[in-house]
Amino acid sequence: MIKINENYLKLQASYLFSDIAKRVAAFQKANPEKEIIRLGIGDVTRALPQICIEAFHKAADEMGNDSSFRGYGPEQGYIFLREKIAAHDFNARSADISADEIFISDGAKCDTGNIQEIFSGDIRIAIPDPVYPVYLDTNVMAGRTGIFKDGRYEGLVYLDSTSANGFVPELPKTPVDLIYLCFPNNPTGAAISKEQLKLWVDYAKQNKSLILFDAAYEAFIRDDSLPHSIFEIEGAKEVAIEFRSYSKTAGFTGTRCAYTVVPKACTAYDGSGGKHSLHSLWNRRHTTKFNGVSYPVQRAAEAIYSEQGKAQSKALVDAYLVNATLIRKEMSALGFACVGGDNSPYIWVDTKQDSWEFFDMLLNKAGVVCTPGAGFGKCGRGFIRISAFNSYENVKKALSRIKDSLK
Ligand code: MLT
Repeated sequence: MIKINENYLKLQASYLFSDIAKRVAAFQKANPEKEIIRLGIGDVTRALPQICIEAFHKAADEMGNDSSFRGYGPEQGYIFLREKIAAHDFNARSADISADEIFISDGAKCDTGNIQEIFSGDIRIAIPDPVYPVYLDTNVMAGRTGIFKDGRYEGLVYLDSTSANGFVPELPKTPVDLIYLCFPNNPTGAAISKEQLKLWVDYAKQNKSLILFDAAYEAFIRDDSLPHSIFEIEGAKEVAIEFRSYSKTAGFTGTRCAYTVVPKACTAYDGSGGKHSLHSLWNRRHTTKFNGVSYPVQRAAEAIYSEQGKAQSKALVDAYLVNATLIRKEMSALGFACVGGDNSPYIWVDTKQDSWEFFDMLLNKAGVVCTPGAGFGKCGRGFIRISAFNSYENVKKALSRIKDSLK
């Protein structure tokens, strides 16, 4: 008899963003005349940088010619891209990362979800609350949690992010082995300072734990004092893995390209306390289960590192940040306490009421889609997340409809 992985039965009925998409589709079906403005899932709306399009065309032409055609590429990614990443994203910020510590992939969602495979089933895990659901659900699937009870899975250490701690969690009170951190944060939009991040790196060193640092939103940082990478913190290479993505940085949500940095110095332990290189383990996993990102996509990603590419992708991010500033200003003016939106495309709004009810109210009365904070965890109850990924005109229209709906 074929049996299922019963850990799947512990999961909430559906993935948060699928659930929201279903509700929005049902609303649209019932109200076909209503124009919906989507400020829910963080999906970009602006076209790819022109320089990426040119690189795409050129690479597609190469694929159309026997002499320049390419078949399977290196699973870890082409060296032309990995070298650019090391130089521009890390070395230029005094983070000593080399090209062979970078693994190109088709998304930070996949990487942050898959990475847990290389760790033992019985590790103690610290998960922020609220949290990007992928970190949590993939550990549930792997059997590292108990059942879901009173809004939380048993067997995990939750790191509360609340207004009391400025949405940057404190170090755990009990020892943990694996720590998930995401800054600028999804969903709260809060950023972490170098001093705060150093506390985590020091903790990981003292406790032989590992930090999984999701920096998918680093391009939105405008405060020069903030770290873009955990590897800007001394000693982090031994205790951290970092995830990056071109999705929000350069509009690649539909194009798919991201990367993960696993430093060679980064180690974890076997049951007898023997040290092992996580770089080797991830390389083994990646080469076994992944066949690389397509050549034209990697050429398009490489183009982002040219002078034009940098200017064009910054212009994209800047435009979303203009929206973010407006959302935060207008929601604050309506009397809501807000965080994020300054170094992040997300604004975390304290609605002081049930977040799903607020979501339904915005959808029904304003035709605006947000994301209910409760979907990100217990600490998200009462909040909504508004995303800045849309046109300025739509954001303005959405805010004026929100204003009217609250009258
Ligand atoms: C979000 O809205 O949280 C993100 O777009 C989801 C993702 O990047 O997978």
